[in-house]
Amino acid sequence: MSETISELRCIACGQRKDVKTRQFRCDACGDLLAVEHDLERLAARLGPNPRASFDLRRAEMQLPYASGVWRYHELILPDLPKEAIVSLPEGNTPLYRRGAIERFVGTEQVYVKHEGENPTLSFKDRGMTAGVSWAVHAGAKRVACASTGDTSAAMAAYAAAAELSGVVLLPHEKVSAEQLAQPISYGARVLALDTDFDGCMKLVQELTASGAIYLLNSMNPFRIEGQKAIGIETVHQLGWQVPDWFVIPVGNAGNISALGKGLRELHALGLIDRLPRIAGAQAQLADPFYLSYREDFAQRHSLTAGPTIASAIRIGDPVSYEKARAAVQELHGVVTEVSDEEAMEAKAVSDAAGVHICPNSGVALAGARRLREEGVIGAKERVVVIATAHGGKFASTTLPYHTERQGPLANPPQVMEASLQGIEEALG
Ligand code: F0G
Repeated sequence: MSETISELRCIACGQRKDVKTRQFRCDACGDLLAVEHDLERLAARLGPNPRASFDLRRAEMQLPYASGVWRYHELILPDLPKEAIVSLPEGNTPLYRRGAIERFVGTEQVYVKHEGENPTLSFKDRGMTAGVSWAVHAGAKRVACASTGDTSAAMAAYAAAAELSGVVLLPHEKVSAEQLAQPISYGARVLALDTDFDGCMKLVQELTASGAIYLLNSMNPFRIEGQKAIGIETVHQLGWQVPDWFVIPVGNAGNISALGKGLRELHALGLIDRLPRIAGAQAQLADPFYLSYREDFAQRHSLTAGPTIASAIRIGDPVSYEKARAAVQELHGVVTEVSDEEAMEAKAVSDAAGVHICPNSGVALAGARRLREEGVIGAKERVVVIATAHGGKFASTTLPYHTERQGPLANPPQVMEASLQGIEEALG
């Protein structure tokens, strides 16, 4: 019997690789690796009543269990020693329920799982706590990623916490100013390249191929393990009740893969009694996954993604395509797409309900509404929409929507002279 509970396995040919490898493609066939847990041994490690132990850990004020990722340590990376954990901490994000959002989507119960309320304001912190902890465990000193903004912010923050040196490849002028400010401030070496995200992604794979620099994109399967905690924490918050749907925006397709993997494992371990369905949502000008879904995944599409207000998911060739396809098929999922106008309207509805989300999350919320209109999601079904980043990271997109009255929900500030009479007149 192997000493570790988990191993790395190629998703296509099944070849195994050492868990401490620094290369995340299979030597034999070039496909991606996944972390596979021995679920029988994991169940034994969890003990007879895992729900109760996770409930108890929710009262913990100390790390690691105060983290919304490491509370589920055994389900994430059971072989990672507690001492190796690098946590800010992350997770414990709210599950918002607002009447205005339910009316917008058109179903009775809609929750927004707000991953923008993580330390660097996106869900990437969940993957990065796992990826950086494992990097430290594997002895890495230098880490790198390509990014549309959020991955680089998270990597730079966790690298700083772990005293690793971080290298970021960004597509020049294709990430928001707020997102660019993050890795710069956290002290990473930021290289703004004259290409798009897919171009950065290719180069970072070449840069890290020798293993001298440790790759922290979601191709790194340890990151996927951390991101599983979004779904796990959500069902825990719902008292281990499974919603009918999770709706999630899709870019490089790591997060939807993580969501599916986490839920399948919870089900196999008996922590939940059924599986939800999942829906991926893409922006119309960056929709390769949707195009493949529409053809029942007969072929893998890749394209040059066009400009969209959902800049974090402006990706034409999702690296985790195969893992995401498997997740959608195994959870009887669907994929949809929406226009920028629909996404901005959804974002405006959520923002005005006090839940400030990014345009990429707007794509998911608008996707939920579209699926409801099409009758795919039923009026009585319970829906969880995953908001992936905070609106504050995208003020440069939000402001013109309001000040330039780009949509029906625009709420521009009124500039006026400083007089009480003027104010009273304006307020009617
Ligand atoms: N939402 C936000 C806010 C993101 O930053 C991303 C991905 C996604 C959704 C899509 O997640 O790629 O796992 O399908 N951002 C990456 C980055 C690509 O570099 O920050 P995915």
